[in-house]
This record gives sequence, structure tokens and C-alpha cells, in this order.
Amino acid sequence: MKATKELIQEHEGIEIMLRVLLALAGKFENNEKIVFEHTGGILDFLRTFVDSCHHGKEEEFLLPALQAAGFTRYEPPLGDVLREHEQGRILMSRFKDGLEKYKAGDRTSAAGISRTISAYVSLLTRHIARENAVLFPLADDRLEAVHDDELVEAFARLERERIGVGKHEEFYALLERLRDAYLV
Ligand SMILES: [Fe+2]
Ligand SMILES: [Fe+2]
Repeated sequence: MKATKELIQEHEGIEIMLRVLLALAGKFENNEKIVFEHTGGILDFLRTFVDSCHHGKEEEFLLPALQAAGFTRYEPPLGDVLREHEQGRILMSRFKDGLEKYKAGDRTSAAGISRTISAYVSLLTRHIARENAVLFPLADDRLEAVHDDELVEAFARLERERIGVGKHEEFYALLERLRDAYLV
């Protein structure tokens, strides 16, 4: 399905960000200089690209399509996916709070930020593996081609309305810059 292919492609971008995050956690642990312009971009990527956009496509369109095909949102795999999105939101807001304290001069928050990043990266790594291996093959198997076209259209609409035209490309450009800064 084109819709699940699009989500898998986004997972690949998110996985680059997870590697950047681990490198950032190392900097907090070792009391290295933190570039706040980077942490601001990372937070925007997590909140907008990962949560509003990517998880939005899954929660608002893919999972309801699977529910219409007979799956319930309270049982695996849909229930697991939703629970993990919620856990991700909690960790993301903890990360944001820690960053604000750190920016305000509280260096004691560094260890907590590093732990929060590690927990977020473990969660998202497991989550992406579950979706790629279980959820998307299920969608490919159970949803009809007509639903695939509807999903692709709904995804494009969500992107346009929620984050705006061109913003998706800006996030990929940010990923490139962060990859150069943290992973080479
Ligand atoms: Fe997800
Ligand atoms: Fe996903």
C-alpha cells in the first residue's frame, strides 16, 4: 500500500533523529556545549513531524480504517500503538521541561534530560519495529486498494492543514543538517 510505504519512509527519517538524540544525550552526560538552536529544532521535529503529523496520520486515519475493518482500538496491535504514542508524548514534554530548566541555567537537569532521551529513543525504536513488522503488514493485508487512495489523500490534507505546505521538506533539510552536525 502507498499509505504504509509513506509511513515507513517517515520512520526512516525518525530513526535518523533517534540517532541524533542519542548523540545529544551523550553531550548532556559529558557536560559538553549544547547548541540551543539545535535542541529547538529537535523539539520542533518531535512535536510537529513525529507527533502531530506522523502519529496524527496513524491515529486519525490508519487506525480508524483498521477499526472499520473489524479491529478494536483496545486490543493489540492498535491498543499498543496508541499507548506508545501517549508514552512518547509524556517523555517529550519531560524533555521540553528539562531543556527549559537547562536553558535557564540549571545544569543539574542534564542527567534527567539524558535519561529521558534514552527512554524516548528505546520507546520509539520498539514502536517503529512493531508498526513495520505487525501493524503495516496487517493494513496491507486487510485494507482494500480504494482505502489506500483515501488514506494517501487524507495524509496529504493533514500535512497541508496542520503543518503547512513546504514544512515537511524543511524538516528533512533540518535532519540533514543535524546528521552532519552529530553523526559524522
Ligand atoms: Fe506510531
Ligand atoms: Fe509510525
